[in-house]
Amino acid sequence: MPSAVPQPVAAKLTRAAIFLAVTIKPDPNHDVVVRSLCGDLAALVRAVGFRDLEGRLSCVMGIGSEAWDRLFGAPRPKDLHPFREIHGVHHAVATPGDLLFHIRAVPMDLCFELATQIMTRLGDAVASADEVHGFKYFDERDLLGFVDGTENPEDQAATDATIIGEEDAAFTGGSYVIVQKYLHDLGKWNELLVEMQEKIIGRTKLSDIELDDSVKPSYAHNALTTIVENGEELDIVRDNMPFGNISKGELGTYFIGYAKSPHRIEQMLQNMFVGKPPGNYDRLLDFSRAVTGTLFFVPSATFLEDAANVVPAPAQPALDPADETTAPRLPPTDGSLGIGSLKGEA
Ligand code: HEM
Repeated sequence: MPSAVPQPVAAKLTRAAIFLAVTIKPDPNHDVVVRSLCGDLAALVRAVGFRDLEGRLSCVMGIGSEAWDRLFGAPRPKDLHPFREIHGVHHAVATPGDLLFHIRAVPMDLCFELATQIMTRLGDAVASADEVHGFKYFDERDLLGFVDGTENPEDQAATDATIIGEEDAAFTGGSYVIVQKYLHDLGKWNELLVEMQEKIIGRTKLSDIELDDSVKPSYAHNALTTIVENGEELDIVRDNMPFGNISKGELGTYFIGYAKSPHRIEQMLQNMFVGKPPGNYDRLLDFSRAVTGTLFFVPSATFLEDAANVVPAPAQPALDPADETTAPRLPPTDGSLGIGSLKGEA
């Protein structure tokens, strides 16, 4: 059997991105619209991307935990669950999101056109949860002034860090993604001496060299986000982007992290927000507030192509089985949205 082709999770970093999170409105007909888009997404990316081949347009689509049950039922990816809020020294909030589109390209026009095409297809089936237009800032810096992304794994290492293999045989070629929108208090950050900023990040500001262990504090961002298990470093692939609205004074970093299991990203978040040991938290969070937080499963491209053919049994019985297309639907009797019966269907 040919192996599943992953979505372009480990695509080369680009200068522009749109992060689009939406919720699906509660109606089984909307689920049909979403599944149909899943099947056509690759063709849409090809159509828009062909207009500027050097623009390297790509799109990764993620599906939230509850949306998975609605859209596809069983089996479900074994580590898929809603984003787990963290109440530590700082608060990592959980926010809604059924679908994520991570659209990347060299020029923004390609991202914008694809986002428009996707939203046109989804129409009334969805409501926007969050939309962020990200840009690269000088030499790959975040708005705090530090180069962001240096220690990202590349090529095979990026694939190994992000793409599910036999550990979840029904979902090989899949991945997980966590997104968080952070707003920076730049005024407060810029009051710090550069030496202190460097200790918080764990690298030098201008030259982006990692601080020597003898001077790097245990609370440095790159110390708390280095996860080692059985002597092996557990990597993730990040593609953070600066964004901002100057007149509103809202600017920050859109964090996006991909991994073959969400646990390693969750462990990093735990270390950052609670601290390692508890209390030894990430000082970056004194200057950066997480205002969103959502976890999505990223099915393989092969799974998405076939998604339109998934036909879960109708959520509610039609009044007149002879006329399923026009009969009004009965409301569910269990107080639910009537979508639970999708689960477990072949
Ligand atoms: C305000 C949000 C954030 C900012 C501005 C930020 C910025 C940075 C910077 C400047 C670096 C050093 C350069 C590099 O290797 O990329 C870094 C490293 C890293 N960050 Fe973040 N980051 C943020 C949030 C997060 C979150 C939420 C996670 C994970 C849950 C994370 C995981 C990592 C990892 C794994 C590294 C590499 C560590 C290493 O191996 O040296 N970051 N980040």
